[in-house]
Amino acid sequence: MLCRFVVRATFATLLAGTAVTAQAQFAKPEDAIKYRQSAMFIMGQHVSRIGAMVQGKVPWDGAQAAANAGIVQDVAKLPWAGFVPGTDKGETRAKPEIWTDNTKFTANAKKLQEETVKLEAAAKTGDQAAIKAQFGEVGKTCKGCHDDFRKE
Ligand code: HEC
Repeated sequence: MLCRFVVRATFATLLAGTAVTAQAQFAKPEDAIKYRQSAMFIMGQHVSRIGAMVQGKVPWDGAQAAANAGIVQDVAKLPWAGFVPGTDKGETRAKPEIWTDNTKFTANAKKLQEETVKLEAAAKTGDQAAIKAQFGEVGKTCKGCHDDFRKE
């Protein structure tokens, strides 16, 4: 009996998983907000570390640039699941346009992921000029989305 129940429950979970909504991943709206902000924060920290080298504030270190670019590329996949509909209230700077103009927002999120893949690829070559150029593209993508979808 128990065994059958477990099998059935697992199957039900699998089925639900195919149509998994972002809501289902978070216990409460605050968690979704915290999740996306945390991912953005981590991403920002590692972008800044590359930025400091690009701007000559700290000595160039190719291994560090590549390591940070790898982290940025990985973390750039994360924030989006946290943009659950209805979470534009509370401790958040998310604008309602994220959900009313979601096609554009999603396109920006996709662009960031593409640009960060390119950044990691450039960082692996060690070509400073290429890294700097691609860092600029990533920065533009961050700013573009913040201008449209993040409150001051
Ligand atoms: C597709 C849109 C989009 C892109 C691209 C984007 N962001 Fe964000 N970012 C947001 C939104 C929206 C918020 C506000 C989230 C909130 O407060 O709930 C935010 C918040 C942040 C925050 C504040 C996090 C906190 O502690 O509350 C940082 C830092 C940040 N982003 C950094 C970055 C960096 C760096 C990049 C580029 C590498 C980037 N973002 C790309 C939309 C974006």
